[in-house]
Amino acid sequence: MNRRNFLRTSGALAVAATATPSSLAASTKSVASAGRSFPRDFIWGSATAAYQVEGAVHEDGRGLSIWDTFSHLPGRVANNDTGDVADDHYHRYKEDVALMKRIGIKAYRFSIAWPRVFPVGTGAPNPKGLDFYERLLDELQTAGIEPYCTLFHWDLPQALQDKGGWTNRTTANAFADYSGFVAARLSDRIHNWMTVNEIGSYIDSGYGPTSNKAPNMKLGRAELMQTRHYAVLAHGLAVQSIRAAAKHPVRIGLAHDLKGAMPAIETHEHIVAAEKAMRAMNAPYAAVILEGRYSDAYLAALGADAPRFTAEELKTISSPIDFFGANVYTTTSVMAADNEAGYLEVPRPASYPRMNSPWLYVAPEALYWTPRLMAKVWNVKEILITENGCSCNDTLHEGKVLDTDRVMFLRQYLTQLQRCVSENVPVKGYFLWSLLDNYEWTDGYSKRFGIHYVDFETQKRTPKLSADFYRMVIAQNGLA
Ligand code: BG6
Repeated sequence: MNRRNFLRTSGALAVAATATPSSLAASTKSVASAGRSFPRDFIWGSATAAYQVEGAVHEDGRGLSIWDTFSHLPGRVANNDTGDVADDHYHRYKEDVALMKRIGIKAYRFSIAWPRVFPVGTGAPNPKGLDFYERLLDELQTAGIEPYCTLFHWDLPQALQDKGGWTNRTTANAFADYSGFVAARLSDRIHNWMTVNEIGSYIDSGYGPTSNKAPNMKLGRAELMQTRHYAVLAHGLAVQSIRAAAKHPVRIGLAHDLKGAMPAIETHEHIVAAEKAMRAMNAPYAAVILEGRYSDAYLAALGADAPRFTAEELKTISSPIDFFGANVYTTTSVMAADNEAGYLEVPRPASYPRMNSPWLYVAPEALYWTPRLMAKVWNVKEILITENGCSCNDTLHEGKVLDTDRVMFLRQYLTQLQRCVSENVPVKGYFLWSLLDNYEWTDGYSKRFGIHYVDFETQKRTPKLSADFYRMVIAQNGLA
């Protein structure tokens, strides 16, 4: 037994000997000190995505998505896991809404599966395509939980991929048509819409040279830059079509994997460097959406591989949005530098701490600096944290998951978020990723991000200690 295993075993024994789980519920009543509270109308939410939780991939006329295809290719996903069943949320949504209600969640961010609505991406809608979401909305309404809907969380209809997927400009138009169709049908019940989730993830990791996600194409640089451009264009076209089609007032944004920067130490010169880094690192996506132009530095660096675009397209891409959703997990430390960019990214020391995913470097200050810099650099007036959370090596022991590591992570990140809102940075809400352990893309079921443990054999859900922690935060509207 090596040192690490010894500690893990002895830790479990210590838990069995000392924990008093029956007192957990009572402890949620502890009181937040006035100094660490959030604004009265702060939106406490949780998030999931269709392919990661729904299952039921062949039910009610759903078409195939690129993730159905990719996950069934041998060797692409840990343990060859697929999302065929996932959390079976399609059938268990009532139980899942009850879990949300128990915690006191005020808003639920979910995504609609495009291939349920248009099985081949365009053309005739599937008559049963939105029925599941109608049922889910009924349940949320009864529970008093506000729906926040993402229209695209990576499950592109396979039929569109067969025509080039996001490399083909017509996919952007198809996305706008689908978005308008859904908004026309559901805008009476859904007021908050997000076009796309994490453009960087599904374009760069789906089509880039080191692609490891569906559709797993490896484009050359010029083609990739053009594909990035079509993706931001798709967002802009969808903003316009949702506004045009909605029959009731709607608020529109996106959920984006913003590249975060923070000053390595908080001195004036490094803070200025972080502002410069934020703008430069986000040139392909967030900056063009918020500024309506590609930066000179971005275009110059790409040279002949720069995307081709028109002034009209830039206008569409930067169509006004009501909020900017940032998925914030980690960030990059930067320092001032005497170079053209004015900053340098500090390489991470080998011993820098991470959670249970290699990419998830612990950086609580991300929830302070990312929103603060967004407000400063782009004058964003409303920010939502559309995802934040972490993977942990959770174990179910005597019916409990005492994930003190996730509680530590959430406590530290939320402390920094509270610092942020207390300085009047306009962050209006927070969505914890994730409500449930789920299908974590190429990690399959091997990584757990949920605040509810899911036994994927039985589909039994068990609230983790972090669920009680989050319940306490929501009840107090702040940190103890
Ligand atoms: C975000 C995605 O990248 O982070 C989620 O929007 C995803 O869908 C989450 O589940 C965790 O990422 P990963 O790659 O570790 O599953």
